[in-house]
Amino acid sequence: MDIRIELAETLKDKPADESKLGFGHYFTDHMFVMNYDTGEGWHDARIVPYQNISLSPAAMCLHYGQEVFEGLKAYRTAEGKIQLFRPEENFKRLNQSNKRMIIPEINEDDCLEALMKLLEIEKDWVPHTDGAALYIRPFIFATDPYVGVRPADHYMFMIILSPSGAYYSTGLNPVKIYVENNYVRAVRGGTGFVKTAANYAISLAGQDEAHKQNYEQVLWLDGVERKYIEEVGSMNIFFVIDGEVITPELTGSVLPGITRKSAIEVCRSKGYKVTERRITIQEVAQAYDDGKLNEVFGTGTAAVISPVGHLKWGEKIMEINDNKIGTVSQMLYDTMTGIQWGKIEDEFGWIKEVK
Ligand code: COI
Repeated sequence: MDIRIELAETLKDKPADESKLGFGHYFTDHMFVMNYDTGEGWHDARIVPYQNISLSPAAMCLHYGQEVFEGLKAYRTAEGKIQLFRPEENFKRLNQSNKRMIIPEINEDDCLEALMKLLEIEKDWVPHTDGAALYIRPFIFATDPYVGVRPADHYMFMIILSPSGAYYSTGLNPVKIYVENNYVRAVRGGTGFVKTAANYAISLAGQDEAHKQNYEQVLWLDGVERKYIEEVGSMNIFFVIDGEVITPELTGSVLPGITRKSAIEVCRSKGYKVTERRITIQEVAQAYDDGKLNEVFGTGTAAVISPVGHLKWGEKIMEINDNKIGTVSQMLYDTMTGIQWGKIEDEFGWIKEVK
């Protein structure tokens, strides 16, 4: 792919203290941009200085939310290599999201090439501190100036980069999660499996209520029977019950997480029995009462592996594994971050180095 490159005349100061990056606050010097116009396809690929963009107030993405996005990270190893974790999976999922949102598909190889080129230029922004990485946000949105409802004819694809630390302020300490009984996130046939802004907008009311009650996140139940566990929104969810690792199956209303898929493969490679199936909140509560709920944890690119120490369902409070990280969560955290930061051998072939 032909990529025009316009470098910034002045570079920003990088955050001085990488241990205080937080998540998603800082952005690098450059971004990737490409346009789509019906009849012409995707064109005008360019890397330009990071800057505000100009949109018509009638731009369709602002009114009807025709938008998709992805999230992945670039990691710096102790030897100074920069590496990505399964990036081709993200661009594959971006196209699955595009299909559902009637956005024109992109060439996955071109996307990866664009990302590699952008990272080559922005290499110095990849944090040097343990636990911090360069969060990568590819996204596509409709730009036609039109307030009627129809698929757009014009889109922008962008990649921006944000040096970031842990997504949850608690880091690897267990998070407190609240089972949402009132609102729902997704239904089958809807957009639950898609990375689109609407899924996150819809989660805010539940999250707001959770925060008021001093909980970090919401655990969503299925939208029909309100009993099957789906996901947390910022991460997929796993339960270890009597030694068996169980995660909700992908029914169409759950995001097919790349960390989820990798965690399943890692657990199986270590000899754990892993089952993807429907699981009710009642079953989890019963396992807790029977002393068989060994661990609960979430998986996500931003969240990595996040142990859940406290789960609230109505009036019932479940304190899991004495609010400490469990054996499976710790093993997964060590293995996944070990591979990502190049501390252990990548026996799965998941790493792609940025040259
Ligand atoms: C990610 O994990 O990359 C996501 O997109 C989740 C978002 C809540 C940060």
